[in-house]
Amino acid sequence: MNSNYKESFEQIKIAGSLAAETLDEVTPYVKPGVTTEKLDKICYEFIRDNGGYSAPLFYRGFPKSSCSSVNHVVCHGIPSQKYLKEGDIVNIDVTAIVNDWHGDTSRMFFVGDVSVKCKNLVSTTYNSMMEAISIIKKGTHLGDIGETIQSYVEKKGFSVVRDFCGHGIGKTFHEAPNVLHYGKKGDGIKLQSGMIFTVEPMINEGAYKTKMLKDGWTAVTKDKSLSAQFEHTVGVTDDGFEIFTKSKKKYDQPPYLI
Ligand code: MF3
Ligand code: CO
Ligand code: CO
Repeated sequence: MNSNYKESFEQIKIAGSLAAETLDEVTPYVKPGVTTEKLDKICYEFIRDNGGYSAPLFYRGFPKSSCSSVNHVVCHGIPSQKYLKEGDIVNIDVTAIVNDWHGDTSRMFFVGDVSVKCKNLVSTTYNSMMEAISIIKKGTHLGDIGETIQSYVEKKGFSVVRDFCGHGIGKTFHEAPNVLHYGKKGDGIKLQSGMIFTVEPMINEGAYKTKMLKDGWTAVTKDKSLSAQFEHTVGVTDDGFEIFTKSKKKYDQPPYLI
C-alpha cells in the first residue's frame, strides 16, 4: 500500500455511503409483523435505484441481497418469509458495489420493545466495535484490534465469536487480511496507511461456539444464546482512521429515533 490512497478512499466512500444509507432507509420498516424478505427487497431496490449492486446476491450461491440474522443467529441469516416479532433483535448486513468498489456494513435493530438483556448485548457489541476502530492508525497491530474487542466484551460477561472475522475489502468483497475480533496486543501485521478493511464483531450472550444450519449459510450459537453484530468499513491513515459506512441519520445503534 502506498501513500497515494486518496483516490481509493474516495471511491470506497461512495460505496460505503450507499450501504449506510440503505440501512438508514430500511430502519423504519423494521417492526413486528414484517418479514425479513420484505426488508431484503427494500435493500435490494434502494441499492439498485441509487446506482449500485448488492454484493451478497449470488455471491458463492447466496440467494438474497442482504443477510438478516435474528436472535441466536450469529451471521449470514437468509431473508425469508418468517415474520419478525416483538422482542426480537435482528442484524441487517448489506454490501453495495459502486464502480466495482464494495462498501460493507451492518447494524442491529430492535423489533418493538426488547429485554434489558438484549439492550446490554447490543450496546456492548456496538461499543466494542467503536473502541477497536478508535485505536486504528498506521502502526497499530491487527492483534490490538482483537484484544480491544475481546477485553471489552469479556469484562461484560459476553463472548467473542471465533469462526468469522472482518476482512480486507475494496474491488473484491473479501480479501486479506483477516481481522480477528479477539487476540493479543502486538500480534499480527502492522497496519499501513491506505489499508481498507471491515471491523465486524459477533458477540454472544453465552459461549462463543457456533453451528452451521443445513442451508449452508446460517450460523447460529451452539448454545442457542443471543448474538449481536455491527460492522463498519474503515480505512487507515497516518494518524487515524476513516469510517466509510457512517449513518447520515445518526442511526448508529438502536433505539433509532425516527
Ligand atoms: N456482508 C457479510 C460480511 O460482512 C458477507 C455476507 S456474504 C453472503 O462479510 F453471501 F452471506 F451474503
Ligand atoms: Co464484512
Ligand atoms: Co457485512
